[in-house]
Amino acid sequence: MGFFKNLFSNSDTVATASQSTPHNKLQNGGSVADETRIVFSTSRELDLYELEELCDAVGWSRRPLRKVKKALQHSFLVVSMWEERGAKRKLIGFARATSDHAFNATIWDVVIHPKYQSRGLGKALMKYTIKKLRSEDISNITLFADPHVVEFYRRLGFILDPEGIKGMFWYPD
Ligand SMILES: CC(C)(COP(=O)(O)OP(=O)(O)OC[C@H]1O[C@@H](n2cnc3c(N)ncnc32)[C@H](O)[C@@H]1OP(=O)(O)O)[C@@H](O)C(=O)NCCC(=O)NCCS
Repeated sequence: MGFFKNLFSNSDTVATASQSTPHNKLQNGGSVADETRIVFSTSRELDLYELEELCDAVGWSRRPLRKVKKALQHSFLVVSMWEERGAKRKLIGFARATSDHAFNATIWDVVIHPKYQSRGLGKALMKYTIKKLRSEDISNITLFADPHVVEFYRRLGFILDPEGIKGMFWYPD
C-alpha cells in the first residue's frame, strides 16, 4: 500500500491525501470531507477506552484503566497517531516514552492497529517518536522488543545487546 507512504511530511501532523473516487471528484471536486489525513500528536487528549480498543485489537492483555491513566500522566512523551477523514477521527497508532529528562528514554507500548499495519506507519510512528526524543537532547533510547518484532526495531537502527549488555528483569514471586 504505497498510499500511506505519501502521507507524511516533516511537520508534526500534516499528511493529506484525497481519497476521492473519480465519481465524487466529479461531483464535488474532491472536497475536504474526502481527504484522509494521518496526524501525529503529542498533546491530544486520549480517550482511554479508545486506547484500550487499539491494544485489544493487537491482542494485548488488558490493564486497569486507572493505572494506564497514571502511566500516561507520568510518561515523558505520549505519541498518538490518528486517521482523520472530514470530522471523523480514529486512533490508529500509539507509543510512549519514559525518561530521566536528560540522558535516557525508554519507549513503551508501540502499536499500530492491525488494519493499518504493513504500510509504513509503524516505522513513521517510531521515527517521529525518536525525533521528538532527540529534540529534547535525549541520546540513549532503549526499548524492550517482543521476539517477533526484533527485526522491525533492528531496521530502525536499534541494536540487540550492544557490547554484550543484557536487559535484566525482576518480578515479584
Ligand atoms: C510492530 C508494529 C508496530 C509494526 O508496525 P507496522 O506499521 O506494521 O510496520 P511498518 O509497515 O512500518 O514496517 C516497517 C518495516 O519493518 C518491517 N516489519 C514490520 N513488522 C515486522 C515484524 N514483525 N518483523 C520483521 N519486520 C517487520 C516491515 O517489513 C518494514 O520493512 P521495510 O522498511 O524494509 O519496508 C505493528 O506490527 C504492531 O502494532 N504490532 C502489534 C503490537 C506489537 O507487537 N508492538 C511491539 C511491542 S514490543
